[in-house]
Amino acid sequence: MNPIELLKQEHVVILRMGQDIERRLRSFREQDQVDPAYIDTAVDFIRTYADFCHHGKEEGILFRALEKKELEPPLVRLMKELVQEHDWARATTKRLAEANRAYAEGDTDQLAIGLRLLRQIQSFYPGHITKEESRFFNPCLEYFSEEELETMLVEFAAFDRKVIHEKYRRLVETLSDEQLDPA
Ligand SMILES: [Fe+2]
Ligand SMILES: [Fe+2]
Repeated sequence: MNPIELLKQEHVVILRMGQDIERRLRSFREQDQVDPAYIDTAVDFIRTYADFCHHGKEEGILFRALEKKELEPPLVRLMKELVQEHDWARATTKRLAEANRAYAEGDTDQLAIGLRLLRQIQSFYPGHITKEESRFFNPCLEYFSEEELETMLVEFAAFDRKVIHEKYRRLVETLSDEQLDPA
């Protein structure tokens, strides 16, 4: 196992979630309504797993290690593009969460907006993942020794151990920032 193989295993999980989102989107369109609880689940998956856990390791460990190498310019450009795509996914997920919250509170105008955003996110991942797997990961591997790859795998494991703690620390912070309705 090397760090790239681990990232590819995570891609499989992200793609499976994408297939589920695609199925749900079809039924939401047919029924002309969405299930806000499902959207919350999808947002949580994207934020915690796809973004924090997966993009987090790519950007925070792999890309950072690559920045210390003398990379070929096309690979530098590709890495920047991937970071921009992660930023886009993060921002779009935030907009989806906002639209879903407004829809759950009765703003039906948000239905079409939420569906469009969910569709955009769902169709983003296959292309992003193909780009990483077909053009980025293999050239990356050539810059690292076996020992460096093993160290990176240890860093990945340490990062993964943080995920659940960070997720619930953020949750508690969000909850304590929310105003309680006066009784
Ligand atoms: Fe990525
Ligand atoms: Fe990835």
